[in-house]
Amino acid sequence: MAVSSRTRVGIVGAGPAGLMLAQLLSLRGIDSIVIENRSREYCEARQRAGMLEAGTVAALRAAGAGKRLDAEGLEHDGIYLQFSGERHHVNFRELVGRTVTVYAQTEIVKDLIAARLAAAAPIEFSASQVSVSGVTTDAPVLSYVDAAGVAHEVTCDVIAGCDGFHGISRPLVPGLSVYERSYPYAWLGILADAAPSTDELIYSRHESGFALYSMRSPDVSRLYLQVPAEEDLQAWSDDRIWAELQKRFGLPGWSVSEGRITDKSITPMRSFVAGPMRHGRLFLAGDAAHIVPPCGAKGLNLAVGDAIVLASALSALLVEGSPALADDYSDACLRRVWRATHFSYFMTSMMHVLPGDPFDDAIQRAQLRYVTSSHPAATSLAENYSGYDSPVVGG
Ligand code: APR
Ligand code: PHB
Repeated sequence: MAVSSRTRVGIVGAGPAGLMLAQLLSLRGIDSIVIENRSREYCEARQRAGMLEAGTVAALRAAGAGKRLDAEGLEHDGIYLQFSGERHHVNFRELVGRTVTVYAQTEIVKDLIAARLAAAAPIEFSASQVSVSGVTTDAPVLSYVDAAGVAHEVTCDVIAGCDGFHGISRPLVPGLSVYERSYPYAWLGILADAAPSTDELIYSRHESGFALYSMRSPDVSRLYLQVPAEEDLQAWSDDRIWAELQKRFGLPGWSVSEGRITDKSITPMRSFVAGPMRHGRLFLAGDAAHIVPPCGAKGLNLAVGDAIVLASALSALLVEGSPALADDYSDACLRRVWRATHFSYFMTSMMHVLPGDPFDDAIQRAQLRYVTSSHPAATSLAENYSGYDSPVVGG
């Protein structure tokens, strides 16, 4: 016999989307439970991107998870775009009056979990056999087996599928339209104990491939290299990685500072959008509904944006009995998601090298010259990178 309980919102997945939604719902006095199939340690150690739009920073503060972010986040005025042996600064603060902040997704997850636990709010880690039923009724059920092997059935008003790309929620939406684009390259990412030798992130297009210089703290660098799709990580010794990074970023009198590599992984790249993001009383948020390639760092910001819109919609639905925002949830999110999907595709296509394609090569250089010399073109890039149309908590 399963243990039965009741809550208002059942949330599948303790990533940024699920945790942020739970946190924003509690601010509105709405109870929820978060069910996660991985361990807390696993969730808190996963290395992901870490570039936050100004709106995401504001949302984390409003959600009561901004303290460490304010102390440790690295605020940036813009980015460098490097190509043809030149490095150009695109200053977002001057162009659109907004900044961006480096703060790793894994730290956000830690902060949000800590905030949930401090409020004695329910989160189940290491759950198994997670399933959702009755999403077209008024009382959908979230079932799972907890880490101790006890079966649970939680009756909810609404279920939020925040369970990432490989989760169980998206397949529950019938008649889903799926839009997808794959890219013939991947990113090899490293974390290194090395003080960054740059003040801002550098997006570098080099004839050997794209490279991104990011950071995690004044002592830790985060760097990425374009590698072929399906690349074998074993083919990349530490020495080979540093040599390639020096080549792709190198400018006379300037080099990448090296240090001990503490993490190494390969991330595939795809664009993916699925809609509608709602079926009955099931709402999808974050990677469960959409994936962007990492160039431009939109994934985390989109997940937080969905959580903000969903928290407002569920508050209107469950507290005020007004369905209008819930009915508009999918369309409102997909408008923002498609803008970011275009921007990520644009950044990816402008920066990555397709060997042996002289047309592509010339087109990319022309576009890079344009965005680094035309004020309107730079302004458009700055507006999109720093967050166009970001939803506001409580808005
Ligand atoms: N049951 C419970 N939890 C599940 C299940 C399941 N069947 N399947 C997946 N999950 C969990 C995953 O273990 C993960 O912790 O759902 C969570 C989803 O979190 P994320 O993958 O981080 O997705 P999301 O919260 O939407 O955040 C998107 O993550 O992938 C990055 O670049 C992306 O930055 C973006 C962000
Ligand atoms: C990161 O710091 O991990 C990062 C930053 C910017 C990107 C992608 C990843 O575009």
